[in-house]
Amino acid sequence: MLKMTNQLKRYLFWFAHEHVDFRLAEMESIFDMFNINLSTVTRPKEHPYWIVDLPDENVVHKIASRAVSLRFCLELWAQGKKKEDLHNSLKAYSVRNSDIFIGDRRSFKIVVETFCKHFSQCEKVEKIESFSYLPLEGPVKLKNPDVTLCYIEYYGLNPNEIPEEPYEHFFGKWIADGQRELIQKLSLKTRKFIGNTSMDPQLSLIMANQAQIRNGDVVLDPFVGTGSLLVAASQFGGYTFGTDIDFLMLHGRTRPTRISQKTREKDESIAANMRQYGMSSHYLDVVVADFSYPLWRVDLRLDAIMTDPPYGIREATERIGTMKINPVIEEHQATSHIPSKIDYGLNQIYKDLLCFSARHLKLDGRLVCWYPLFRDQYTEDQLPAHPCLELVANSEQVLSNYTSRRLLTYKKFREPETNDESIIMNLTDFREKYFALREETRKDKRMKKATERARRRENWERSNKESTER
Ligand SMILES: C[S@@+](CC[C@H](N)C(=O)[O-])C[C@H]1O[C@@H](n2cnc3c(N)ncnc32)[C@H](O)[C@@H]1O
Repeated sequence: MLKMTNQLKRYLFWFAHEHVDFRLAEMESIFDMFNINLSTVTRPKEHPYWIVDLPDENVVHKIASRAVSLRFCLELWAQGKKKEDLHNSLKAYSVRNSDIFIGDRRSFKIVVETFCKHFSQCEKVEKIESFSYLPLEGPVKLKNPDVTLCYIEYYGLNPNEIPEEPYEHFFGKWIADGQRELIQKLSLKTRKFIGNTSMDPQLSLIMANQAQIRNGDVVLDPFVGTGSLLVAASQFGGYTFGTDIDFLMLHGRTRPTRISQKTREKDESIAANMRQYGMSSHYLDVVVADFSYPLWRVDLRLDAIMTDPPYGIREATERIGTMKINPVIEEHQATSHIPSKIDYGLNQIYKDLLCFSARHLKLDGRLVCWYPLFRDQYTEDQLPAHPCLELVANSEQVLSNYTSRRLLTYKKFREPETNDESIIMNLTDFREKYFALREETRKDKRMKKATERARRRENWERSNKESTER
């Protein structure tokens, strides 16, 4: 039988089995945003479900209205490791709660979900029929029923070792779906304006949840690119704006990213994307600007900063500057002068980003940003830090055998003082190491090819010599 804490109901949260390392951080952020106590009964890190005790359905609806990792949520009626345990537990539930069944003529359906094992429709119907003892009085209705009941069998995570019988059985009443449909709605495939580094919608939405974007929040992306993060923030009611050093990008004049597209359409822009999604009223604007130079009024206060700074791999990490000593721009050159650029190292970018956030975020405001690194060198003390910002979440997305990027969430907890400007960190330069390693791998490949060619030539010469001798 399910034990329940006083006045709390038990719910089953079923997650998409994707971006698993982001799940806990996203859910903690959402719980914190709605001031909900996270009292989970079971929260296995790798399994696609959590069992959570919550005060009522309204709370579930709040969570589901935001969670992108969440597929759906059930009011959990019964659970069992064996099939018999589940049925016994469900029978006991229906006796204990007979009042919810008696006289309830609402239409219903039962759906079957199986994780890591496929069943035919016939097999599923058989499973549904095993619940015929439930005192359900209403008619069965497959399309839009009043009540949806759900039976789930969980066969573990390893598709190469699927057990005969499930590890867990669950039965409950469907309460709400998470926000997975937003991933389709904001898909890059159908978005008007995209670029090489556009952030995919699922991760952008997770970032918006990490940033706890609420209706009316003012949100900045200082490395805005094609504005994917603005779209996600505005989806949750944020008023969004951004800056980018790349004039051509902000004016939609870079080379098209889609192979099928030869030239950019005239009206490709972040504004057009916002129009496409009906978010124009939440879009403030974008400005061509170099983040390394102060641009904003000192008293600008932001609710959140969401950004994906350039790592220097697929886009240049540049800032305005020159290596010349005492450069002079003549009067007559002033209006047409295009400033030269110099490298903007990753260390400096994150140093500037954290200092800027400490200065311009409101108290409790959040900075959510990506940070690239070499996996074997990762330690938490290598991450950028600032005395006014607390690191509240840190999730990893693996990119290759060697590299990954981490989604870092910082919360501002105090205003900076003059001597707070320095950042304690000990970074290895990701970009330098990335290209050095790539060069090494290429050299290795070239060496291997040369050795292979030499070996073939030797063989050929030997066999030639042998045949002439014969
Ligand atoms: C990884 S991309 C951001 C992609 C963006 N999230 C999107 O969805 O399209 C990084 C952006 O930073 C911009 N950038 C590079 N150096 C900059 C600088 N000094 N100031 C402002 N933006 C800069 C690049 O032009 C690029 O568009």
